[in-house]
Amino acid sequence: MPNIDEYLQSNAERFEAELCELLSIPSVSADPAYRDDVRRAADWVTDKFRRLGFATETITTAGHPLVYAVSPRVDDAPTALVYGHYDVQPPDPLEQWITPPFEPSRRDGNVYARGASDDKGQMLTHVNSAEAWMAAEGRLPINLKFLIEGEEETGSENLEKYIVEHAGRLACDCVVVSDGAQFAPNRPAITYGLRGIVYYELRLIGPNRDLHSGSFGGSVTNPANALAAMLAGLIDEHGKIRIPGFYDDVIQITDRERKGFELLGFDEREYFDQIGVDCAIGEEGYTTLQRRWARPTYDINGLSSGYQGEGAKTVLPATATAKFSFRLVPDQDPGKITAGLKLRLAELCPPGIKFELHSHDFTGSPGVLVPLDSPAVQAAARAIEYAFGTPPVYTREGGSIPIVATFHNVLKADTLLLGWGQSDDGAHSPNEKFSLADFHRGIKASAKLWEELAACGFAENVGCVKRTESDAKQ
Ligand code: BES
Ligand code: ZN
Repeated sequence: MPNIDEYLQSNAERFEAELCELLSIPSVSADPAYRDDVRRAADWVTDKFRRLGFATETITTAGHPLVYAVSPRVDDAPTALVYGHYDVQPPDPLEQWITPPFEPSRRDGNVYARGASDDKGQMLTHVNSAEAWMAAEGRLPINLKFLIEGEEETGSENLEKYIVEHAGRLACDCVVVSDGAQFAPNRPAITYGLRGIVYYELRLIGPNRDLHSGSFGGSVTNPANALAAMLAGLIDEHGKIRIPGFYDDVIQITDRERKGFELLGFDEREYFDQIGVDCAIGEEGYTTLQRRWARPTYDINGLSSGYQGEGAKTVLPATATAKFSFRLVPDQDPGKITAGLKLRLAELCPPGIKFELHSHDFTGSPGVLVPLDSPAVQAAARAIEYAFGTPPVYTREGGSIPIVATFHNVLKADTLLLGWGQSDDGAHSPNEKFSLADFHRGIKASAKLWEELAACGFAENVGCVKRTESDAKQ
């Protein structure tokens, strides 16, 4: 692709400058204080698509806006739906950033800013590759529909509604998502599995007010003690989660996968050194990669009760709350997990305590597995090899992209998960970064992908139950 490659080279610096522009908008979706900034980021993305000559809309939702852009029609060519997100996680703890999170800084071959890798940098690779085709060839070889949302980091609730209501206009042959990671530097990956998630807030209520722990302690149930015991009761000493029916629908790791994971040569020592811990823990009988990618897990995400200020206060708190979540694997059903959890909590709840369980908005995100034997996957593998100089490895991931299950269930489309980031990019952490070399290789791979997908023979894929635009007039 000489014209396109040349265009990418001569515009590399501008692509970086534009990425920095978008990164300097603090589009934190979880915090209402950033509402106007989230809107500004949506406008920035809309503007970018308009400059490419795409039919573009900023769609208002009950939450943050969606950006939808469609490339000029190419007859007799397949359609890919590109999904990404322009929202970011909160930047705290601020004092740990070397340069401020919304003042992008280019150093040691990386750009440092909140959202650099997750997902502004990765999302823009596909926008820039589309620009290169339009500018260097005057057209794309494929039809592209871009769906860029502002609520991924809070669970994609409004996007899910939009997809269900507008499935017809989103009809496509496949979905392309870059919101994950390569296996390691210079080891690009095609990811075929993501975990799902269910997230809860548990509140325990004990006495009608905070009490003196000397006068009352030991005579009534302390909600903080009860919370610690109840949370501990959700897992046993072998790392098995103790909820009725929890493992019933878990798809087991196949022998082929087991071997595939082993062949990746995962360096456990390096992994633990990177995060500053000295040993592995988890469900007995599984390796670290298996635990992270293909087994369900339980994590407490936040705890609060009693006195949190300076010094000591001898208090028996009236209430205690915890936020905790389970990462799920196919075919666990989030609804069934919640039902089992309620039963188990009722069993664990001691006398003198009432409990309330609240499920978070994105409760209901199941795990996904995508088939590897499709022409689209082969097309992606060729595009990756072209840009990275090495073929991809095949991985699963422990994180969740809730909307991928909806693409499968509602649009009947499989997703190509092509993460250009690295596992040490610091997504959700201070000093998030994205390698500029990966940014440019990602753009190049994406440009090649459009050509490869156009030629990969979707139409001959007879087993496919694809939804078409005329199928649904919702
Ligand atoms: N980009 C991540 C998902 C991801 C993480 C994919 C690691 C591959 C590897 C995404 O932005 C994210 O963080 N998702 C949330 C979803 C949650 C808020 C519902 C997650 O996984 O915690
Ligand atoms: Zn994220």
